[in-house]
Amino acid sequence: MKKARLLALLVCLTGLLCACAQRPADPAKPGERELVVVGFSQVGAESDWRIGNTASMVQAFSAGNGYRLILEDAQQKQEKQITAIRNFINQGVDYIVLAPTTENGWDTVLAEAKTAGIPVILVDRRIEVADDSLFTCWVGSDFREEGDTAAKWMEENLPPMLRIVHLQGNIGSSAQIGRSEGLSAALSKHPGWSLVFEAPGDFTQAKGQELIESLLKDGTAFDVIYSENDNMAYGAISALKSAGITPGKDIPIVSFDASAAALRLVLKGEINLDVECNPLHGPRVRAIIEQLQRGETPSKYTYVDETSFDAESLTEEIIAGRGY
Ligand code: AHR
Repeated sequence: MKKARLLALLVCLTGLLCACAQRPADPAKPGERELVVVGFSQVGAESDWRIGNTASMVQAFSAGNGYRLILEDAQQKQEKQITAIRNFINQGVDYIVLAPTTENGWDTVLAEAKTAGIPVILVDRRIEVADDSLFTCWVGSDFREEGDTAAKWMEENLPPMLRIVHLQGNIGSSAQIGRSEGLSAALSKHPGWSLVFEAPGDFTQAKGQELIESLLKDGTAFDVIYSENDNMAYGAISALKSAGITPGKDIPIVSFDASAAALRLVLKGEINLDVECNPLHGPRVRAIIEQLQRGETPSKYTYVDETSFDAESLTEEIIAGRGY
């Protein structure tokens, strides 16, 4: 009889141990059991765009909407994103949302998420993986088209002889790759265009300012700044103003993102063209997760419709209604 009780206890204990091994730490806090848990690995807080994007995700994945969002800021470092994804897997989240820093280097960690059975949704930038079943779907911008839009405006609105300064975003990110490709393609078509300076400004205001300051110090002559985001353009504007150069007039500026503060500079004439890159992805990603929850298959790739703004097409009402 004693033996039978001991055996039953052993069976119970083994069952308990197995259950713990299969199910990692339960991410839900008491009272939150019914919430869908989403781990979001964000690039960082390098730009107004990024801050608007984080706010949109936080708003969309609120407890009121039925979610618990675990937000991890990677400070623009891919290693931190890989660690965050592994932590999400260990916590047993329901979905992983990844805004990737760069396009390459995701195969191993996403294979781990796949083995754990956790769907991965990509937002904003894209990735290059050998097996595209490693992610469920992607939603974001057509960065190459953004670059082409900017180059076309330069063709139509600036003189045919152009010495171009190119402030790039983080090298290897889709936003940098697409926008740089747009400019390169136009450069090869226009014999009067030359690239007098090109360097990464990491999408930050400080770096944009530093690059233009050092360029002015060197005495490099240029006619236009092609800045791959608004924050680097703000830095460039400060540097030009400090040197007594009028941005937008003496030196035209083409920028990307079209955040509210930058669009006000378009109205003021300090930025000549701002190509939209819309960061309000929260509702879009939530709609994808709702589809998955219902057992539906979302489209593998979804491009957001975007436009561009110059002083002629812009009004204060348009800026007020844009939400970032
Ligand atoms: O990937 C989108 C880009 O990343 C935005 O243009 C930039 O501002 C951000 O940091």
